[in-house]
Amino acid sequence: MTIVEGRIWIDGCFDFAHHGHAGAMLQARQEGTELYVGVHSDEEILKHKGPVVMKLPERVIAVEGCRWCTKVVPNAPYVTDPLVMDQYGCKYVVHGDDITTDADGKDCYQICKDLGRFIVVKRTPNISTTDLVGRMLDINSHHHQGPISLNHPITDIRERVQSYASDPSGRDSYAGVYFNIEESSTLHEFVSPKNGYQKVVLVVGEFDLFHPGHIKFLQETQKYARSNDAKVIVGIYDDATAKNANYPIMNLVERSLCVLQSKYIDGLVIGAPKVLDTAFLGKIPGNVIKVVVNASDLPSQAQLLDPTLVHELSEYEYSDMTTSTIVNRVLDNRAEY
Ligand code: CTP
Repeated sequence: MTIVEGRIWIDGCFDFAHHGHAGAMLQARQEGTELYVGVHSDEEILKHKGPVVMKLPERVIAVEGCRWCTKVVPNAPYVTDPLVMDQYGCKYVVHGDDITTDADGKDCYQICKDLGRFIVVKRTPNISTTDLVGRMLDINSHHHQGPISLNHPITDIRERVQSYASDPSGRDSYAGVYFNIEESSTLHEFVSPKNGYQKVVLVVGEFDLFHPGHIKFLQETQKYARSNDAKVIVGIYDDATAKNANYPIMNLVERSLCVLQSKYIDGLVIGAPKVLDTAFLGKIPGNVIKVVVNASDLPSQAQLLDPTLVHELSEYEYSDMTTSTIVNRVLDNRAEY
């Protein structure tokens, strides 16, 4: 294939759908007009780096669900091969500002660097797969009590939320972002949506360790919403509301960014309550036509709602996956990580 003007390549393990990976995809997408994302196989990662937590099909779902990804290329080589980039019509490869080496300690991007086909972007601080695995291994400690958000200056959080709310080009605004301050009768609008909201389908949850169970749920929710000519707004529990024993693993800012990068949502409310009373529903921009819930995990608030507002989803891929599924994978294979 000939090079397609503006088509960018990025590749990696993308183990977990964390906001660091999304940040790299966003910056890569801003370099061009289309973004092709190469995802390495489990075997290649094992050989060069170590065992993955999320299997290839799960990692593909995560990347595919990112608003800035145009196309996923599974089984991309670990050492970036310009011939494979050519095959997909990509001139440049993008990578975060860390060195990735292969099993022999060689820079995976040296060939592309030598050819002038390498673009470096800023890594997102304070997040990595290794860090998340560490938090899971450390689950009995008080990891969640040290607010990781304090490591980020507030201006950085503001800029990050604004950029993650962008449209598929990564440049223009798209999703509306709101803060729910309990005492206030209206939401505080943090980022204005590109188009306003009329009919809205609402989902709420903690969305900890944003995994295929969440992603497929949101994808199905979006299909349901679109068939009713509605938009999807997600409400995220704050850390105190989400807290259950040693969960959440990710703090409110991190969980919000993970959901915000999803192509299956149109808006985000940071700080949703567990009980969806009329006071909260009345604050949502637009007319809430349904609250979508996972049938096997019918949250208690659904029972408090007007039952005609509840729409249950079942029978979707990964519907039985939970945050504990992932944590248990890590704990059960503790010795490997
Ligand atoms: N990346 C980033 N910020 C992070 C973590 C990763 O910008 N906090 C970028 C990497 O630089 C790379 C892309 O995300 O361009 C995919 O990274 P990946 O291959 O999955 O591996 P790592 O760099 O090791 O990231 P992680 O530790 O999270 O696995």
